[in-house]
Amino acid sequence: MAKLNGSKKIKTAVFISGRGSNLINLIKFSLKKNSPIRIELIISDNSKAKGLIYSKRYNIKKKIYLFKKRNIAENKILDKLRNKKIKLICLAGFMKILSKNFIKKFRGKILNIHPSLLPKYKGLNTHERVIKNNEKFSGCTVHFVNSKLDSGKIILQKKIKINKNETANTLAKKVLRQEHILYLKALKKLYC
Ligand code: GAR
Repeated sequence: MAKLNGSKKIKTAVFISGRGSNLINLIKFSLKKNSPIRIELIISDNSKAKGLIYSKRYNIKKKIYLFKKRNIAENKILDKLRNKKIKLICLAGFMKILSKNFIKKFRGKILNIHPSLLPKYKGLNTHERVIKNNEKFSGCTVHFVNSKLDSGKIILQKKIKINKNETANTLAKKVLRQEHILYLKALKKLYC
């Protein structure tokens, strides 16, 4: 995608399933003058996602699509994205796996943040598995989304040391703080 030129910001949709700390981080960033993105749409598969409160607070349109039938939900989402001329998708704690067909339509334009040092610990319950395996380090990764789970080209990673008494909870908090920094760094690297 072309880098940002002048005042034209990239129309972006953020997909969430839960709390939305990465969402609010992206929103605050997007409001800065030098940010390359403008968030035009929040999409969720979960009507109870806590992060949806930021829609009202920041006056950003939200849409909920229950993924009972994935292809139906995805086709509706694709219509909406086309309609709003969305050029970039940021997954931010979005817990559904998007189909090959969907990803093809936005090739190279879907980013994700994952709370591990990919390719290690793809999938769910990352921190629990990391602690169980007595890893010395963990971290987070921003990557492009391709058709294989958590496997697209890596844009940036941040490595974090694991302390002796670390629990999955304390690690999750530490990693999350770094996620917020890393996602913005990745966007600047790609589009500024
Ligand atoms: C974040 O830790 C994010 O990396 C993770 O879910 C959390 C969402 O938190 N995403 C994944 O595990 C995706 N495979 P948030 O809702 O506060 O941003």
